[in-house]
Amino acid sequence: MMRKRLCLVMFLSLMSGSTGSAHAEYADVVINRQAEKNGMRPVVFPHWFHRIRFRCRVCHLELQFKMRVASNIITMGDIIDGKFCGACHNGEIAWSVENCDLCHSGKPGLPSGIYGSDQTNGPGRF
Ligand code: HEC
Ligand code: HEC
Ligand code: HEC
Repeated sequence: MMRKRLCLVMFLSLMSGSTGSAHAEYADVVINRQAEKNGMRPVVFPHWFHRIRFRCRVCHLELQFKMRVASNIITMGDIIDGKFCGACHNGEIAWSVENCDLCHSGKPGLPSGIYGSDQTNGPGRF
């Protein structure tokens, strides 16, 4: 069901051009709103990596990610239910949630924010 919906989402996204631009297109986004408080390392989201594969609207419209660092309240419960990152990281479109360390890969203490300006320059590459 979720998968079907996402295929539709991706199809629709191919039909429309992307809009807007920001330096986040090329960077890594660190999300550490609640991760470390809950005993996990900060999340490193390689924006550039996803941006070259998907249209902006897939995430910022269909999946409802607000376009501001750490402005989204994302819980693992939501992700497991197929929302936010979990719309794709479900073992079908991309590797699944069991791979904690692939997302929670930030250096301890790293605050939320945008890091680097291209793929060779992010906190995800320690
Ligand atoms: C696909 C990426 C991804 C994977 C895989 C992932 N997480 Fe997360 N996780 C996130 C994001 C994004 C947040 C939100 C971080 C924030 O706001 O600080 C989060 C938040 C959390 C939180 C705090 C919020 C809450 O729901 O309690 C905990 C605890 C957590 N993750 C544990 C885990 C564990 C344990 C695993 C492996 C079983 C895991 N995560 C796998 C992306 C992921
Ligand atoms: C795979 C999902 C995904 C795609 C595709 C995507 N983004 Fe994002 N974007 C995110 C996430 C996740 C965040 C961080 C949100 C957070 O920290 O809560 C973000 C953050 C941003 C921000 C905030 C930067 C800041 O300064 O706070 C901007 C601007 C942005 N994206 C623009 C874009 C544009 C423009 C595109 C298309 C060219 C795009 N995004 C494609 C998921 C995506
Ligand atoms: C629209 C679909 C989509 C969403 C939403 C999405 N991802 Fe991904 N992500 C992918 C795909 C596809 C890959 C590549 C998977 C593969 O290589 O098997 C990937 C790969 C990754 C990688 C590995 C990048 C690398 O360098 O290999 C990380 C880390 C990651 N995602 C984190 C996240 C986090 C954190 C979120 C939520 C904030 C998220 N993703 C949301 C589709 C998505």
